Amino acid sequence: MFVLTAQPGPCRTVLRFVEQIFGCSMLPLTLPVLRLLSDGAFHSGEDLASQLGVSRASIWNALQDVETLGVRLFKVRGRGYQLAQPIEWLDPAQIALHLGANAKHLPVQIIDVVDSTNAQLMQRAAQGGPHAQCLAAEFQTLGRGRRGRAWHAGLGGALTFSLLWRFNLGAAQLSGLSLAVGVALVRAMMELGIPGVQLKWPNDLLHGYHKLGGVLIELQGDALGPSSTVIGVGLNMRLDAQIRNRIDQAVVDLASLCPEETSRNQVLAITLRHLAAVLKDFELHGFEALRDEWQSLHAYQDKSVALRMPDGSQIMGQVRGVTADGALILETASGERRFGSGEISLRAATNPGMLVESN
Ligand code: BTN
Repeated sequence: MFVLTAQPGPCRTVLRFVEQIFGCSMLPLTLPVLRLLSDGAFHSGEDLASQLGVSRASIWNALQDVETLGVRLFKVRGRGYQLAQPIEWLDPAQIALHLGANAKHLPVQIIDVVDSTNAQLMQRAAQGGPHAQCLAAEFQTLGRGRRGRAWHAGLGGALTFSLLWRFNLGAAQLSGLSLAVGVALVRAMMELGIPGVQLKWPNDLLHGYHKLGGVLIELQGDALGPSSTVIGVGLNMRLDAQIRNRIDQAVVDLASLCPEETSRNQVLAITLRHLAAVLKDFELHGFEALRDEWQSLHAYQDKSVALRMPDGSQIMGQVRGVTADGALILETASGERRFGSGEISLRAATNPGMLVESN
């Protein structure tokens, strides 16, 4: 039996503290108030209070720290409160509409606030929860990124969801899965009419070498199969300055790539549809069937890179592609080598004119 799951890092401890002081008493009223404000109009404290059957002081309290959620609010004496940016809430009916015939095979549950959609689905997976269920959150208090990092996303400014998917395969056969998921995400972006989205090994979603989204896959099961996977996807829809400041790398959001407003409900449905198709393909044919497509989407193909290993050491080389099980092929001074883990970045001197990432 194996369970591969993200380990809490130091950042997570801080966030847990924030959740303790902020989450319990604040959020239950904060979200209902923000829902009333999401029409984009001004609402007086009195109006909000009477609609929710609470005091004006409770409304004032509920909106005190909304900036920490990545929500900007105008507070104007005599007029009340207005959201700087209207929020499109996740809506199961809208998602089902966009999913069409796929809706009955891909049940989507929306939760307002949760620690991490991955953490929740890992629990459900262990309790025998059904295959192909999706959990999407308006806000995560402890969003998990890869390599023990935190994943930062503002309320209404991102898509944060996970999909529980069961395979008859064992852990070794799932090694190319995270790359396959990347292909599904790029296909979804293409269907949405967003060109130029690329991948960074193993599965970051990039645009112009800026991070648009990320994938965290956690596994449990028996070495020879079957396995349960939880595929967590975070996609930047509209990054607020507060959230941007918490992220230590170059990022981009869909709002700046699309001339028109993109619907979160539509993006979720389209992404889920592509994910399900790729996962079925993966179960039957493995990553091999997707390898050429993946390589054509790799922003680092044939580039000179530094590969930072989990122990902190660095290996220089030129990217030659990926193997059938998703390992990175690097041509190094000592010949061609394959790597199953590590973090790549461009080498400035050998890639003139390229942006050098700060991660
Ligand atoms: C990365 O580090 O690039 C992976 C980020 C994955 C974030 C998503 S958001 C939904 C799901 N729940 C989590 O806690 N993490 C993933």
